[in-house]
Amino acid sequence: MWVVTDESVARQVLTDPRIAKDTALAPQSWRDGGDLEPTAGQRPSLTTLDGPAHARLRTAHAPLLSRRRLAADADRIAATARGLLRKEAAAGTVVDLAADFTTRYPLTVILDLVGVHKELLDDAASACRGMVSSDPAARGAAFDALNAVTAGAVHGGHDGIGSALRKELRDEYSDEQIGYFLFGLVFAGQLTTDAALGFLLAHALDPGFGLADADRDRIDALWSGCCGNTRRPRSRCGASPPPRSSWAASSSRPERRSSSTSSASTTRAGSTRRT
Ligand code: HEM
Repeated sequence: MWVVTDESVARQVLTDPRIAKDTALAPQSWRDGGDLEPTAGQRPSLTTLDGPAHARLRTAHAPLLSRRRLAADADRIAATARGLLRKEAAAGTVVDLAADFTTRYPLTVILDLVGVHKELLDDAASACRGMVSSDPAARGAAFDALNAVTAGAVHGGHDGIGSALRKELRDEYSDEQIGYFLFGLVFAGQLTTDAALGFLLAHALDPGFGLADADRDRIDALWSGCCGNTRRPRSRCGASPPPRSSWAASSSRPERRSSSTSSASTTRAGSTRRT
């Protein structure tokens, strides 16, 4: 296993046509372990496909996660954070923000964006926790539970990314497959933002760091500082700071070649394995 920690090397790896995501390319012994994402054949998705099929999905997702689209929701997203924090404060007891808020806040936002009814937040939160369990059976059950939550949003949820993707892709993908696209957004979005929020909170609560009274500009500056140059986003997804979405920018990125020519695959955690 190789762990890539340098930005320029990561860029090289992610644009190398010999590197692909389809776990069908991984050695059988890795697949038997049950730790890898299903193959592209079993579960086509942004996180499993390569080449033109991946590019097509990116094109379908990009306008739904553009900077402009998300900026329109920014106040509502901030209000969600305040509402959840107020609820914690109202409990009047010591609360563990890292155990609860950091999971529920990104999930609340992402579920709302994709179109999942808010009554399913608890189910989604416990499924996300189960997905990182050390027990393979618990991970499997959590995978099914989260998949059920997102599948329901494709045409049973409120208007959002799910219904928009269905409109755009219904001639190419089944509802079940589109549900898995939402699964990818929810799980990837929750997992990453959960960890990032944990760091932000740790700094915010550290008296020496002086963030207790920070206003929005200061927090935005901190976020931009973490993510680097805004013109060259580091992440290939929505993680980059404003003013430019890397989803939107991605259409100009070189695409990776079809997985059939690949000699390596990535694990679900994103680390690179040579085959
Ligand atoms: C601090 C927050 C985040 C960080 C650090 C982050 C980081 C990353 C990285 C490094 C990748 C590339 C992984 C690879 O190809 O191996 C990635 C891909 C992806 N992320 Fe994020 N991400 C964050 C937030 C989000 C959010 C909020 C969403 C959903 C709304 C999301 C959805 C995705 C998806 C679907 C992909 C696959 C994209 C593709 O292959 O085209 N991420 N993310």
